[in-house]
Amino acid sequence: MIAAAMALVSPANAQDVTAGDEPGWSFAIHGGAGVIERENLTDEQEAAYRASLDAALTAGTEILAAGGSAMDAVKAAIVLMEDDPLYNAGRGAVFTWDGRIEHDASIMDGTDRSAGAVTGTRTIRNPILLADTVRTESRHVFLSGDGAEEFAGEHGLETVLPDWFATERRLESLNRLKAQKLSALDVDVKYGTVGAVARDMQGNLAAGTSTGGMTGKRWGRIGDAPIIGAGTYADNDSCAVSATGHGEYFIRVGVAREICSRIALAGEDPQTASDSVLAEVLEMGGDGGVIVVTPAGDEVFSFNTAGMYRGRADSEGLREIAIFGDHAGDAE
Ligand code: GLY
Repeated sequence: MIAAAMALVSPANAQDVTAGDEPGWSFAIHGGAGVIERENLTDEQEAAYRASLDAALTAGTEILAAGGSAMDAVKAAIVLMEDDPLYNAGRGAVFTWDGRIEHDASIMDGTDRSAGAVTGTRTIRNPILLADTVRTESRHVFLSGDGAEEFAGEHGLETVLPDWFATERRLESLNRLKAQKLSALDVDVKYGTVGAVARDMQGNLAAGTSTGGMTGKRWGRIGDAPIIGAGTYADNDSCAVSATGHGEYFIRVGVAREICSRIALAGEDPQTASDSVLAEVLEMGGDGGVIVVTPAGDEVFSFNTAGMYRGRADSEGLREIAIFGDHAGDAE
């Protein structure tokens, strides 16, 4: 079990930035956590991830700095990452055992705790936008498969042919998994789920998460990303969380809601709450990470993997993009 050997990593230079009473904004993104080590990334690959994270961070922060909503910032960043084949979300998502690509996504608005989620979509270009349409245009929270596709059609969501999402790199991963007769749960992979969390100048919080799930997933397997309370949660009174990692464990721990409850009910600071919940995941055998923002404007990362593609920024001037766990030469 890969996770058992890993120490919980709380970035050494993690800092809580409190906006106080001033109207400020905070933003954080992730592009997945996992076995992400310097020796496994070429300079070109690292530069591509940094440029992509920078673009997603900028998309969200420009909206927030202009007084836009946390929800719009979250969607803007995730749409860019869904369109970027570097990540396991939207274009570039992993293949199922049957050689298909099935997306999961969810989004939550902390102002009223309205939420939308979709699972198993195959032609929707930006599943995060469909999740948001479920939130705003239906009386439901969670739609799946053909029904979600039909709902998307009725609401004019952009569709593409399934091949649009396919990449050679992900096909090779599936072929390797099959050749080695491994199950999706045995593979030591770089998770590439994407997510964003935001606090806007009005003090509203939002969170969203989007993924292709796990390489070689079977039987309609669903991870934590589209599950409100596991992969995504936002409540103006506690925090906003987006998770990435081994979904089965994140569901069992109820990671996103658990972090917010610890902050709201136990009065824990967000770093302690996040680290404690990730430690619980690790103890059970799971690995991954979270990004969190709070009503006070803290932006927190926590992960128990070697690295996590991530970025954060706020109205106080913080701007950071990082990949590895040791942070040596990592911050920008
Ligand atoms: N965290 C994404 C998944 O397990 O599907």
